[in-house]
Parts: sequence; C-alpha cells; structure tokens
Amino acid sequence: MEYNDLNSKIWHPFTQHGLGEPIIKIERAKDEFLYTSDGKVIIDGISSWWVNTHGHSNPQIIEAVSKQVQELQQVIFAGFTHNPAEEVAAKIRGFLPPKLEYIFFSDSGSTSVEVALKMAVGYWYNKGFENKTKIVAFKKSYHGDTFGGMSSGDCSVFSKPYAKMFFDVVHLPYPEKGREDFTIAYYENLLKKEASNIAAIILEPLILGSGGMLIYESFVLDELYRLSKEYDVIFILDEVMTGWGRTGTMFAFEQTNIVPDILCLSKGLTGGHLPLAVTVSSREIYDAFYSKDKAKMFFHSSSYTANPVACAAASANLDICMENSGKNVLDKVKFINNYHTGKKEKFEQNDLVKNPRILGSIFAFDIKTDKEGYLADLAVDLSKYYIENGVLLRPLGNTVYIMPSYCILQSSLDKIYDTIEKSLEDVRLNRNEFKVVN
Ligand SMILES: Cc1ncc(COP(=O)(O)O)c(C=O)c1O
Repeated sequence: MEYNDLNSKIWHPFTQHGLGEPIIKIERAKDEFLYTSDGKVIIDGISSWWVNTHGHSNPQIIEAVSKQVQELQQVIFAGFTHNPAEEVAAKIRGFLPPKLEYIFFSDSGSTSVEVALKMAVGYWYNKGFENKTKIVAFKKSYHGDTFGGMSSGDCSVFSKPYAKMFFDVVHLPYPEKGREDFTIAYYENLLKKEASNIAAIILEPLILGSGGMLIYESFVLDELYRLSKEYDVIFILDEVMTGWGRTGTMFAFEQTNIVPDILCLSKGLTGGHLPLAVTVSSREIYDAFYSKDKAKMFFHSSSYTANPVACAAASANLDICMENSGKNVLDKVKFINNYHTGKKEKFEQNDLVKNPRILGSIFAFDIKTDKEGYLADLAVDLSKYYIENGVLLRPLGNTVYIMPSYCILQSSLDKIYDTIEKSLEDVRLNRNEFKVVN
C-alpha cells in the first residue's frame, strides 16, 4: 500500500459536508493573507476563528518557537516546570491586576472554561459546601463545545442533541439595550431564592460572540458582580474571545469597575500560532485547594499541559502585546475601530441591514431575512460568495461580522467592506441565488 492510494477522509469542524461546502487548502499565510494551494489569495477577515492577533507568520513568534522546539518540546507538567511556562505565567500576571494571581495552563478555550467551572465547584466542595454546584450564565452565550462549555452556553442548534446530559445551569436573559435592569433583577431574585446552591456565574464580558456578536453595557457586569459578592457566588469571566485587545482594551473587564475571581484566556494568547489556554484564579480560590490533604488538590490535567513550544509562542506574543506598555497594539485596534466607525453610517442607511454595531476591532450587523439564527440559509451562500471574492468571513446565520488581525492594511479593510457592500446589493437583487426572502 502507498499513502497516495488513500483518501484523507477528514471530518471538518462546524462543517456540513452534505451541503458540499468547498474545503480550501491553504499552503501558507502571512499577516492577513491566506495563500491557497491553487494560487489564490484570501484576506482573513475573522483572524482564523478569532485567534490571530498580530497576523499570520509573525517573525518574533516564529523565532521563539523555532528556538524552543530544538531544546524542549514537551515534558510532564505535574511536578515539573520549564522556563517558557515560568516566563509566560509571569508575563500574564504583568498584564493583570494583583487579584488574579494563579495561572493554570490548558490547551483551548473550552478547556479553560472546564477548568474554571471545576475550580469554582471544587472551591465550595473543599470548603464544605457540597450543594453549591449550580452555574449561572447568559442566554445566547457560548463557552465552548465540551460538556461544561455546552451546559453553560445557551442551548442552541450547536448543542441541542446533548441537552439531556447537561448539568444544572440557570440562564439569565441576555441584557439587551433597555432591558438591562430586567437581567439584573432576575439574577437578584434567583440569588435570594437559591444562592446556597449556586457555585458561580460565568459570562462573556461586553459581547456575546458566537451568540451573534451581541454587545451589552459594562454596568451590567458591575451590578452582577456586586450581587455575586453579596451572595457568595464566584464570578468567572470568559475572555477567550475578548482577551488580548479585541474590544479596545487589553481585556474587556478593564472597561468595568470589577476584577473577576477567575478569568479564562486562550485564542490570542499565542497570537494565533499554537494552541494554549490559561485559567487565572484569585488567591482565595487557590487557597481552597492548598492543603496537606492530597484529596483536596485540584484534579485536572491534560497530557500537553503548558506545552513548552506553545508557551514560547505565547511568551513572544506577550512581548509584542507589551510593546510601548500595550499602546502599539491598542493603537492598531483603534485604527480598525475608527475605520469601522467611518463605515457604520452607510450600513445604518441600508434597509437590508439591522443593528450595525462596533466594539473595539469588531464590526457586526444583521441582515433582515425571514429566517434568522445560525441556520439561516443565507450564511452558507454568503460565506461562499465572500470566499469567491477573496475574503474569509463566516457569518453567524444572518449576522455578518469582521474581526481582523490587528496588522490589517487599510487596503484589505477596503476590500472586505467593498465585498460586503456588493454582497448586500446582490442579496437585494437576488443575484447569486441567495436564499433570502424579505
Ligand atoms: C467566549 C468563548 N469561550 C470559549 C470558546 C471555546 O474556545 P475553543 O474553540 O478554543 O475551545 C470560544 C470559542 O469561540 C469562545 O468564543
């Protein structure tokens, strides 16, 4: 047998192979550009699923990875440590307020959430509150595709088949504009009745990403935090998407008056070069596991915890983030934000468009269609259209959004916006067989 006789049969994530979605082979990438094996160039308008912060093939990160890979590729992390992990943990702490003190490594956004939930429930267990196991989250939220993430996230088309296996989570109404007080009151009522059973609240700060890029006001977080402290509930922020500058500050919680008890970070942590995540906890959480009693330790690991090569990538990435005390990166985000702002009015005037919105480097709007939500037929047609026009965008149902790498050139933003505007014109004229009815 020769390898060449075999077909790869890869089962791709979030891909309906039955619809014949094209699978594009990428050979290399640089900055915001993806180069296909058949010689096409595609502008990556979504930072390759929100991970790529400073552009693909960043030379500083590549150099750090190349050096590390020759020295130590992997070592067990229980009872051992290494320089890349030590360095990256210290650097992460340098970005965070002193309350966020202990760094627990894992390897994806979902696992950082699993770790956070286990820390919260384990904290109460070790303190003798075995009934404090319930989790609170927002409707329309997304926290990953593992069972903890799916249980915490809203039950959507993503997770419906598994819903019977989910653990106990109360979903607060999403704090849409003008209805924030309702969400806050809902939480307060819940706490009055059930605080003795509630371990933690987990939230995506300022914007619910996969739920449709839904932005909400920062005072909601202040209020939910205040209530959590009043009723002894651990406050977890999932900054897997929002971390490392996305929302205009290094972390979204910097736009509030609070510091969470536990923080989940991943995606941009390595600049989008290798998989790595951390769950950062306060000393109070850590101390509940600190004991002479082995049974009280935090029982969580994965084989590749704190992989040295991924840590080296993160360490180099954090140096880039720290340049000029973070100003260089945030200035680039500001440039993108200004660009979005300059375009927004045009979208507001388009009668096919609903609710154009901006947060930091993110721009989103909804297309008016009779079928909304993730399964809107329009999404597949639009993705295909964008790719054919040299732009990678993956609408979330009828929500189109842009979330570029911070290095993106103005000419690339021009091209992305031109393509979106042309797609709206085509939708209006029902060209390209868009499955949309108004
Ligand atoms: C807020 C949030 N949490 C968790 C996750 C899961 O991260 P990962 O896909 O790396 O497991 C995501 C992914 O999009 C996310 O946006």
